[in-house]
Amino acid sequence: MDNLAASRTALATSLMRAAHTRLDPNPLIDDPWGDRLVPDAARDMFRQAALARMDAAARSKALASPDATVDEALMRSVAYPSVITRTRFTEDALQLAVGRGIRQYVLIGAGFDSFALRRPDFAADLEIFEIDFPATQTLKIERIGACGIALPDSVHFVATDLSRETVAAALARSAFRADELTFFSWLGVTMYLTRDANLDTLRSIATCAPVASELVFTYIDERRFDARPAALVELEARVAALGEPFLSGFDPGTLALELKSCGLQLREDLDGGEVAAKYGRVHETSLGPPSFSHIVLAQVF
Ligand SMILES: C[S@@+](CC[C@H](N)C(=O)[O-])C[C@H]1O[C@@H](n2cnc3c(N)ncnc32)[C@H](O)[C@@H]1O
Repeated sequence: MDNLAASRTALATSLMRAAHTRLDPNPLIDDPWGDRLVPDAARDMFRQAALARMDAAARSKALASPDATVDEALMRSVAYPSVITRTRFTEDALQLAVGRGIRQYVLIGAGFDSFALRRPDFAADLEIFEIDFPATQTLKIERIGACGIALPDSVHFVATDLSRETVAAALARSAFRADELTFFSWLGVTMYLTRDANLDTLRSIATCAPVASELVFTYIDERRFDARPAALVELEARVAALGEPFLSGFDPGTLALELKSCGLQLREDLDGGEVAAKYGRVHETSLGPPSFSHIVLAQVF
């Protein structure tokens, strides 16, 4: 299925994790699968888009090293720091949650996240549920098959459109156990859903999993949509061109109350600068802030 009906932003973030793994001298994550899950047609689409943004001199230089063109374009994206640090932050929190006995992991809008492939020992302790649009899951399953890999039976694909169905209703069609402590990740997704769909998702998480279940998610500080900093305007234009426009954000000042009204307690809310500092990368051009992207740890109460 190379018609790329799958999420293009998810293909891009997969390539970002792979480029980080290959090129960062001290990578925060290890994702060799990020390249293998993405078809050549998608890589070529990102290459053509990068070339189209260049002047003639840069383009003729770039044509000499086509793979490097894609890597460089993706690592220069303002989304890149958040894509890398959110994976690390989430899996650090997941590790702690597993230590406390959590055995279910739900990836909401999983895209091409290769957790079960790249961390098989860690994944072996968990029942894993990947929620996403059918087209994205179909391509991912095809790519895994084409790589000659069979995922364990503990990985479950749950296809849905979160603007039409709640997380709880989607999970109810799977082997998910609502009486088991669960860790949810929801990375790089809230900005593509409406505010109502995001609040429905939060409420749904809080009602379909027991108290003390956990959630890590990312959001864009909605005040920045009004302030329109150049980096965010550029990112908005790029994702809209991929057919996945930003629809909403959250206000960090009211987030704790909003989460509370949905049945979740805010534990941590870090902006891009704070999360880069957490991993000692704040002074780097590649993994330093943009601060408009936040990552949150919350708990069902
Ligand atoms: C930017 S990608 C992030 C993918 C992955 N979480 C990551 O960090 O690489 C956004 C993902 O959300 C999914 N998504 C967006 N809107 C959705 C919806 N309404 N229902 C289900 N999935 C959705 C897309 O298909 C895509 O896989």
